[in-house]
Amino acid sequence: MPLFYLMHIVHLLTVILWIGGLAFVTMIMLPMAISTPDPLQKVLTFQRVEHRFARLARVYNLVTGISGLIMMFLMGWHRYLFTLQGLPLTIMFLIWVFWFVMLFGLEPIVIKKMLENLAKSGNKMDIDAVFKRMNRLHWIMVLISLAAAVAGALVAHGPFSLY
Ligand code: HEM
Repeated sequence: MPLFYLMHIVHLLTVILWIGGLAFVTMIMLPMAISTPDPLQKVLTFQRVEHRFARLARVYNLVTGISGLIMMFLMGWHRYLFTLQGLPLTIMFLIWVFWFVMLFGLEPIVIKKMLENLAKSGNKMDIDAVFKRMNRLHWIMVLISLAAAVAGALVAHGPFSLY
């Protein structure tokens, strides 16, 4: 099924760019921002990276979701959603929904505003507390995304494989 193979490659490459980018922001950018002594500089550096990455991540989210859904319907696997055998597929789908809500709902409305307010307030205590929370949140998001990738591998191989 050529379309399935094509979507599989598109899905995998997009997931690599997405999780790789998220890991870079979490493991390199955020610690760099946190170690910046000037509070305003700290917020502005992170704000610029986060905005650019969030824009890309929205594209990655759409491409991953569309290619995943096409593969799922091509194989008739939608019947397994929310069943025990389809557990990894369901987990991958729900993690995708979580990301969709984060990227299209929370990021532009809540996180963007929060960073703008922080930059305006310039309060060092507030900024340090928010960055600590943001650091934890980013690590959780990396782990959740890796869980989706593990779920993807389990759809293809192992006791929960749908083949
Ligand atoms: C956070 C979002 C997602 C991530 C990180 C992710 C990750 C992955 C990975 C790494 C694979 C490759 C598995 C392999 O070949 O060993 C995969 C395959 C697949 N994914 Fe996703 N996925 C996501 C969202 C979705 C969504 C929303 C759907 C559709 C409901 C979906 C459906 C599929 C299907 C049908 C496969 C093919 C399994 C196969 O035959 O290899 N994925 N996914």
